[in-house]
Amino acid sequence: MKILTVVGARPQFIKAAAVSRVIRNEISEVLVHTGQHYDNNMSDIFFRELSIPKPDYNLGVGSGSHARQTAEMLIRLEEIMSSEKPDYVMLYGDTNSTLAGALAAVKIHIPIVHVEAGLRSFNMQMPEEVNRILTDRVSDVLLCPTDTAVKNLENEGITRNVFDIGDVMCDAVHYYADGFAESDLHKCVGGLVPIVDTGVKIGKEWYLATIHRAENTDDINKIERILGAFERLDAPVIFPVHPRTKSFVRSLVEAGGYKNTLFCEPIGYREMLFFLSRAKKLVTDSGGLQKEAYILKTQCVTVRQQTEWVETLKGNWNTLSRPDTDEILHKVNDTVIDKNEHREYYGDGHAAEKLLNVLTGRTK
Ligand code: UD1
Repeated sequence: MKILTVVGARPQFIKAAAVSRVIRNEISEVLVHTGQHYDNNMSDIFFRELSIPKPDYNLGVGSGSHARQTAEMLIRLEEIMSSEKPDYVMLYGDTNSTLAGALAAVKIHIPIVHVEAGLRSFNMQMPEEVNRILTDRVSDVLLCPTDTAVKNLENEGITRNVFDIGDVMCDAVHYYADGFAESDLHKCVGGLVPIVDTGVKIGKEWYLATIHRAENTDDINKIERILGAFERLDAPVIFPVHPRTKSFVRSLVEAGGYKNTLFCEPIGYREMLFFLSRAKKLVTDSGGLQKEAYILKTQCVTVRQQTEWVETLKGNWNTLSRPDTDEILHKVNDTVIDKNEHREYYGDGHAAEKLLNVLTGRTK
């Protein structure tokens, strides 16, 4: 069996690392990197750190508007899929690379396997929601990470070839969580590269924060209110900055007033798990980090109106907040967690094996 896998953005590299390691024992995999993410610390570092096989093709598409980025991927992907003639095209998640892979494959009749199928935020303003609905609609094998995802598909009339395999990102957390030990604190902190000097030093306690969604970063008032909350927390905040926000975060910080936040370059996956598992709390708008925090039992405040990972809300491990300074502080400081309310909603760390069983017909 031959599979052609399309990846392009940071979270997809992590998922592919967990899956490729398992499936390559039995299946021949052609790996295509669209080039959606291309910076060293958004792409190369993951291939190195997580020992992901070198991509067979790198399309080097880079950034652009949604239409341009998706269109350029489509043209190249169709050429490669036509010449490689795989049995399946495998796609992860909900990025523009996912959608391009889906459109290219379905038009030339190559069956699609969608990993992380069935997630919904029910917010069509998010490009990711559009990408995942369209991809699920044309997929032949839908591999869901949770029961909720299976039910979401059922509600849309999609019930054939739907499998709940657990979450491949959960596999990655289990596999890489011990990458650094307590004694590596100095090394991990030393590896943080500030994008602008705020003089903040990280000691034994910190909060972790990431904010990159367009809905939060495209409005300067919102991002200022979010950053304002970080300044009033009782320990320094480590904030790895996504490249899309780097220039205006830098200009905000240079204008002054930020004394509690270390704004740094994006960090590798193992470093992220190190800081996340030991953080006092996490503030984020990332989907993957909400779930990783849940699995590692770190309390999370998500600066969004809704989450696809609704299981994380049980027991208050995760709470939603508007991009408002006081509300974020209230959620961070006053939320009480029910520690007994913690389950393996995302599987047992063996989703990739279940994926392989489905593809090889061992699971009907
Ligand atoms: C994409 C995904 C999002 C995912 C995120 C993970 C879509 C629609 N969104 O968002 O679901 O959560 O990846 O990070 O596909 N840039 C660089 N260097 C890079 C990558 C991006 O400078 O290596 C900058 C560019 O200015 C670019 C901007 O970041 O225009 C946004 O990048 P893009 O890939 O369009 O979307 P993300 O925000 O990364």
